[in-house]
Amino acid sequence: MHSVRALFTAASFMALAEAAKHQLIIGTFSTDFLYTAEYDDTAQTLELVKKTPTNAASSWISLSHDRKNLYGTDWNAEKPSFVSYSVKDASTIDYEVRLEGSSDCTGEKSIFVEASPSPPYAVYGNYFYGNAKCGTVMSVHDNGTLDSIIQGYEYGDGSAVHGVSFSSDSQYLYSADDGGNSLWVHKINQDNGSLEYLSRMTWPQDGADPRHVVSHPAGGYVYTVLEGTSQVAMCMTSELGKLYPMQQIFSLIKDDDQASDFWADEVALSANNKYLWASNRAHNSSRKGYISAIEVNDDGALVKQYFLTETTNSGGYANAVAPSPFDDGLVAITDNSTGFLEVWKMDDDKAGAKVVAHLDIDDAGGCCANAVWYS
Ligand SMILES: *[C@@H]1O[C@H](CO)[C@@H](O)[C@H](O)[C@H]1NC(C)=O
Ligand SMILES: *[C@@H]1O[C@H](CO)[C@@H](O)[C@H](O)[C@H]1NC(C)=O
Ligand SMILES: *[C@@H]1O[C@H](CO)[C@@H](O)[C@H](O)[C@H]1NC(C)=O
Ligand SMILES: *[C@@H]1O[C@H](CO)[C@@H](O)[C@H](O)[C@H]1NC(C)=O
Repeated sequence: MHSVRALFTAASFMALAEAAKHQLIIGTFSTDFLYTAEYDDTAQTLELVKKTPTNAASSWISLSHDRKNLYGTDWNAEKPSFVSYSVKDASTIDYEVRLEGSSDCTGEKSIFVEASPSPPYAVYGNYFYGNAKCGTVMSVHDNGTLDSIIQGYEYGDGSAVHGVSFSSDSQYLYSADDGGNSLWVHKINQDNGSLEYLSRMTWPQDGADPRHVVSHPAGGYVYTVLEGTSQVAMCMTSELGKLYPMQQIFSLIKDDDQASDFWADEVALSANNKYLWASNRAHNSSRKGYISAIEVNDDGALVKQYFLTETTNSGGYANAVAPSPFDDGLVAITDNSTGFLEVWKMDDDKAGAKVVAHLDIDDAGGCCANAVWYS
């Protein structure tokens, strides 16, 4: 009896210790590396465990549904391209292949990439700067490695899409068109992942510039971060594939700030969709950005903003929040003004959030673009 109990205690202790360590993979802007960091949830520490040399700087990275592949933009490629890595574990990341964007797409840089969580697991790529009004759909091999471009498609004149998101049933792709001040809805072909245009909603306010978009799993709402006006907004979806912007708006700046001093960055749902995390960046590196969390109810409506707290730094080109997959109150945030990764935790009373772990990654202005939680 005694020994069984002792064994059980030891086993559950080990399970706990195991669960306390989580890995993140982080991309860079200007240097060709992927970084792997480990967050210890018990000790509340971040440690750099691996620096993987690559042949691309990825302004954005995205893990495949089974975490066996990682896709990245090739931010500094002469011709906008996307790269594909196989991932054995968070520290064993091997380059597989690079795909050049569709030839009729003349955007200057590949800016964003997102892997579909549903079969056939197509990968969607976006462009920015220059004539970036296009998007690319890429197929993958059975093992998840990027295979080929199956579709190049166009948005509108002046469009430059900075982020996309899938509806929870993977029927629709939502695109945040920063250059064209719009949100777009495409129908996803279930056989091969190709897209068919459904609707474009031009944002009611000029210069709002939707940058990233995320949809709630219940299907009724889509949220966007407005880079130009430093706000978080929500839209109602419709079965006809249309989006309707709602009145309710949450500010990512304080009353005496000016939106023109900022360029709001990211919105993302927490592990169990309890909170919508959002972040803002300051243009001037002597200013600070903001981090915020908004209450989300069960059907996906945004209820109230809990707090708007200054970040450690301006954020540079990043200040991208990545909610952890294991704790609604825990997020990672990246900064490339000096190069670091942080983990923030929401206060128990939800009136604010604090840095619980900080990791400087000094790589001469490259790090850190966005982070993905591997575990
Ligand atoms: C994945 O499949 C492709 C196509 O068969 C192959 O070229 C590649 O080497 C495979 N990658 C891995 C890691 O097995
Ligand atoms: C994908 O499916 C659509 C609809 O069936 C078809 O029109 C298109 O040609 C397919 N694309 C590829 C690359 O097979
Ligand atoms: C940033 O702010 C500092 C301090 O207010 C100011 O001296 C500097 O000119 C600003 N830089 C830019 C590029 O606006
Ligand atoms: C952050 O990344 C941007 C985009 O590549 C780059 O222009 C900038 O110099 C980087 N920041 C620093 C402080 O190096």
